Amino acid sequence: MARVSVTVDGTRYSDEVEPRTLLVQYLRDTLGKTGTLVGCDTTNCGACTVLMDGRSVKSCTVLAVQADGHEVTTIEGLGNGELHPVQQAFHECHALQCGYCTPGMIMSSVDLLSRNPHPDEQQIREGLEGNLCRCTGYQNIVAAVRQAAETSAEVGA
Ligand code: FES
Ligand code: FES
Repeated sequence: MARVSVTVDGTRYSDEVEPRTLLVQYLRDTLGKTGTLVGCDTTNCGACTVLMDGRSVKSCTVLAVQADGHEVTTIEGLGNGELHPVQQAFHECHALQCGYCTPGMIMSSVDLLSRNPHPDEQQIREGLEGNLCRCTGYQNIVAAVRQAAETSAEVGA
């Protein structure tokens, strides 16, 4: 077993984990952060995307022990009890149908906007290319990110 000490959504945790434990497993199974989803487990879909030290990572591709000493933000840590501007924009732009991709899409969007507060459509599509959606056709997702960029001066996590 290995010890992982990590801050998740503003709370410090310290747990013994198997060295092979994936970050997404640790978040969901140990911490109960089930808002972070597993769509493929093979680094393709992006449903498991979280922020680690402010940058988006696919948490099925990161070992829990690699998060030791770092700060992780999940979809459940955005917004401080209210909808984060990106969540609000997804809601208003109808940027989801089944919603399975949505937590990962939103975390990647937050990362994108923190690096580039005013992306054009091409930059949004490139910024979200690691996140797959089987429902929406992406158009309203792009519109939501544009709206979030326009309505919020500060959308970083
Ligand atoms: Fe991690 Fe699909 S579950 S990329
Ligand atoms: Fe269903 Fe994106 S809303 S996969």
